[in-house]
Amino acid sequence: AVSIRVGSQGNATGGFHYGLLHEDIDNSGDGGLYAELIRNRAFQSSQGYPSSLSGWHPINGAKLSLNNLDEPLSKALSTSMNVAPASPKGQVGFSNDGYWGMDVKVQKYRGSFWVRGDYRGVFTASLQSNITGERFGATQVKSRSRANKWVEHEFVLTPSKSAPSSNNTFAITFEAANLKSASLDFNLISLFPPTFKGRKNGLRIDLVEALEQFHPTLFRLPGGNMLEGRTNTSYWDWKDSIGPLKDRPGFSGVWGYPQTHGLGLLEYLEFAEDLNMELILGVYAGLSLNGDITPKDQLQQFIDDALDEIEFIRGPPDSKWGAVRAQLGHPKPWELKYVEVGNEDWLAGAPAGWNSYKDYRFPMFLEAINKAWFQPTNPDIQVIASGSTYDGHDIPSPGAGDYHLYGEPDAWVRDFSKFDNVKTPHIIGEMASTFPNGGTGWGSGVLRPFPWWGGSIGEAVALISYERNADRVFGALFVCNKMLDRFVPFNILTSLQAPILRNMNRWQWSITMLQFAADPAITTRSTSWYVWELLAAHPITETLPASTDFKPLYYVTGKNEKTQGHVFKAAVYNSTDGADVPVSLTFDGVAAGTTAELTVITGPKDPYGVNDPFTGVNIVQTTKTTVKSDQDGIFSFKLPNLSVAVLGTKGK
Ligand code: AHR
Repeated sequence: AVSIRVGSQGNATGGFHYGLLHEDIDNSGDGGLYAELIRNRAFQSSQGYPSSLSGWHPINGAKLSLNNLDEPLSKALSTSMNVAPASPKGQVGFSNDGYWGMDVKVQKYRGSFWVRGDYRGVFTASLQSNITGERFGATQVKSRSRANKWVEHEFVLTPSKSAPSSNNTFAITFEAANLKSASLDFNLISLFPPTFKGRKNGLRIDLVEALEQFHPTLFRLPGGNMLEGRTNTSYWDWKDSIGPLKDRPGFSGVWGYPQTHGLGLLEYLEFAEDLNMELILGVYAGLSLNGDITPKDQLQQFIDDALDEIEFIRGPPDSKWGAVRAQLGHPKPWELKYVEVGNEDWLAGAPAGWNSYKDYRFPMFLEAINKAWFQPTNPDIQVIASGSTYDGHDIPSPGAGDYHLYGEPDAWVRDFSKFDNVKTPHIIGEMASTFPNGGTGWGSGVLRPFPWWGGSIGEAVALISYERNADRVFGALFVCNKMLDRFVPFNILTSLQAPILRNMNRWQWSITMLQFAADPAITTRSTSWYVWELLAAHPITETLPASTDFKPLYYVTGKNEKTQGHVFKAAVYNSTDGADVPVSLTFDGVAAGTTAELTVITGPKDPYGVNDPFTGVNIVQTTKTTVKSDQDGIFSFKLPNLSVAVLGTKGK
């Protein structure tokens, strides 16, 4: 048996550990987390994506065309859709097929559209089957339209029947005979189902609930390559993503589709607030995916943007950008303690991009942010570099690093002690098992089609290795000696799985926490979701020392300050002949005869087993048992090969 004796003198951890990164990839934002049902609602154009009528279809022969009026709806939304009837009488209009369908239920949908042109009748807004045409609900919207003015119309539509599938459309029609102008122009045509916490312009309930249930405590936003953009004129500019929807121009996404910017900075902040997640804000750092590097003498504009963004988030309501936030309905500043400069600056345009980051881009941001936000009365901001010491960055103090790894499960085992002695604090800003052991790597191949059980166990080994280092409080790991008493010390702050969501209708990255489609029945928690959930559900606020003999059992031990319970988390990765691993565990100070709950999750025999959204079968099994320590205080139990387990004593 593996015999583990856990001591009683430990070190405090940061208290939070597991989190999310969000960027719009795999239609995880538009057509995903963002609950808007209408695709291409505002005919937006952005670099590489001209305006189009994609998603829109004429009804009864209406002629649909793009129109750039002299008086557009707004500067940001300059193209609209002109709708001209084919004949002088009868209902005409248009439909939209959504992000590959729309879920129709008996519930309130809130919609709106802007129209320009003289029409003296009613508009009919409806939801219907794309297969049979059966109408599930409709509402009449009295026209207030004007010949030379854009007028917004709002409505509530409650279907009387739920649709049997998500292959449905939304339509707006009007009576051609009541038209006084030759045609009508429409823009910003929007329809939302109920959203999480009823937020206006909010998020899709089932997806947020599934994310919430895995207990994330940190949120890196806006994450990944999306922040960098394709070029240094099309990066994710936060200023374009706030305010009324009609003032958001949209964004040329980096993952093969344009984005609406409907899921903007404020929506991200509200999401973090609703799930009680600490923020890690990514700011654009002057390097884009095409390798565009901003020269030193032009970098200040981006530093200023970052400082404005920080002020928007955490500045008082009487500061310039805090006042803008207050006007948008959020006078109370958000807490923002972590700011990451750029994303993976070691990658795009390397080595020149990386060298410029180390030479002047990171140092200039670091200095400017610390200068602006070092105030004795405020908790200061921890600036994080977008790469790690392991990417060859000797990160200047008081900076932290960010380590990303997408790899084979064996890599996590090889790296188990990687962070044991690192001197710079780090976050693990993106990680996931993507390739099978010894299988295809980045150069030649593809990712596995879904997170798979063996890969998820590999992730558990890595997560345990990070948790083991969440307690290292010796000086070098403090952020800045001046701030000792005000900062949460950390070596490894958090681990974020990335990306988190995949729309099964259009995607390019297959390893995600959740898969989904328009139909909520498709929403599927991956094998990794179960592993992360179990580990995240039992936070360790004080790690406790234990014997350090690993393989095939990888573990971390600690205590939870709130419950005063003791915690043991473990993963078994490749035991000899696949045999169960007997464990004998004692905690100093835990009396003989104490009961503990042991939760073990196991998967199928085949390590390549997956949770496939189209079969709906969950291959992950969860077993809970009560274990009692014997007269010597020993908890004895066996853990199967390829399993993850948590044992927790009740405490108080
Ligand atoms: O998560 C997918 C991509 O992987 C991210 O955009 C990027 O940061 C990383 O390379």
